[in-house]
Amino acid sequence: MAHSLFAKKTMAQLEAELQGEQRLRRVLGPITLTSLGIGAIIGTGIFVLTGLAAKEFAGPGLMLSFVFAGIGCAFAGLCYAEFASMIPVAGSAYTYAYATLGELMAWVIGWDLILEYAMGSSTVAYGWSKYFAKLMSLFDVKFPIWFANDYWSATALLKEATEKGTTDELLALYSSIEIPSVFGIPFAANFLALFIIAVVTVVLVIGIRESARFNATMVVIKLAVVLFVIFVGSSYINRANWTPFLPFGLAGVMRGAGRIFFAYIGFDSISTHAEEAKNPQRDVPIGILSSLGICTILYILVTAVLTGMVKYDQIDIGAPVASVFSNYGLNIAVFLVSVGAVAGITSVMLVMLLSQPRVFLAMARDGLLPRKVFGVVHPRFRTPHRATILTGTVCGVVAALTPIDILADMVNIGTLLAFVIVCAAVLILRRTHPNQRRPFRTPWVSFVSIAGILANLALMLSLPLDTWARLIIWLVIGLIIYFVYSRKHSVIAEAQGAQAAKQAGS
Ligand code: ALA
Repeated sequence: MAHSLFAKKTMAQLEAELQGEQRLRRVLGPITLTSLGIGAIIGTGIFVLTGLAAKEFAGPGLMLSFVFAGIGCAFAGLCYAEFASMIPVAGSAYTYAYATLGELMAWVIGWDLILEYAMGSSTVAYGWSKYFAKLMSLFDVKFPIWFANDYWSATALLKEATEKGTTDELLALYSSIEIPSVFGIPFAANFLALFIIAVVTVVLVIGIRESARFNATMVVIKLAVVLFVIFVGSSYINRANWTPFLPFGLAGVMRGAGRIFFAYIGFDSISTHAEEAKNPQRDVPIGILSSLGICTILYILVTAVLTGMVKYDQIDIGAPVASVFSNYGLNIAVFLVSVGAVAGITSVMLVMLLSQPRVFLAMARDGLLPRKVFGVVHPRFRTPHRATILTGTVCGVVAALTPIDILADMVNIGTLLAFVIVCAAVLILRRTHPNQRRPFRTPWVSFVSIAGILANLALMLSLPLDTWARLIIWLVIGLIIYFVYSRKHSVIAEAQGAQAAKQAGS
């Protein structure tokens, strides 16, 4: 007999899984939580994606896009925190869903999280490569265009430079702007993005403890660079550049919000620390809202500087925040911004490439993915080495070959879908499990969860149709794997099968 699609893990099962593992201690206060959030948030979104979003979608109105995206995140964050705190184990939305919504929804969320974490790290690596190339060019170390870009990005750069007559600018960054052919096929790949993913993967296999000190240093560097951009850049603002403010209308602002939503991804990690918070009911919402609030203000100010220093249609889409300073010949500023971006973006990548194999590990332990690949922990390093290497390899190849706009929109739509599910789940679970322990309760839950669903759906709807098509294909592939493999190998299915056999025999 097939087991139910809504089969749930029981609290006893979760507690049993925890045995032998260390329980987390309640040590995190509101400031540490906020700092953890900022560490995971500021990265490729603000340093890279703002360029394309301002140039092609929203113009200076991108400042408003950040407000819309930030509001959607705040609602989702408050729901996510209740969901996370209901289950007394550290884990991701996948684990919480398994215990509350059942196996099928858990699979959908787990499959969807691959978009957030794995595709997210490819996107972040792409951003890293742009700042790394910019930084190296200051020391006259340059790479050929085919070595630092995927084929589509390299072709687009060449086309734009030829049309505008700015090939000299490309030659300031790249040692050659030819795209070579291999067996008659033009070839370009972002080997820099591949390289950084390989380095981070090796570090994660050997085992890195995400220490609070490392995170705190990164947060300080990132904040210092962002504040530097705001203070130094503001004296170069030409207000005329802000007119027209909405060159693409409100539709452009929404489209921009859908794209730069990426800049906020990572704040959900705060909710996963609900068990470690000293006073979850107070500290978790403070952590979520203050890190989102701080980042929103910083993002708006950086965008104001960016679109004020150059006309939106002239913004560089590779390393926009550093490039605006190049326009004014401020090479020291370019250097500082590039160093800060490279360091800050690396820390975001570490978190993402650390999270993905752990979601895989949880899914493999439940039998939904092959245990031999995803569920093995290295005897000496105590890390899920196979899953980490596989994740790194796939993410590296994707980052090398795919343009950032496609990557970023896939990550955005996948994460937004997870947020919509979580917002809905919190409301449903209040009805179906009213007595479940909830260390953190979402305030004004009906309003917050419905507003969260609507705001995040609106952001999803602002994304292009081909992104939706890719999401649907992704989910269909996921469901096929679930019905062909996971459902049959599920630990719950095995347990129920064994019980049925026992009953039949007795
Ligand atoms: N918010 C993270 C970034 O922008 C993912 O890099």
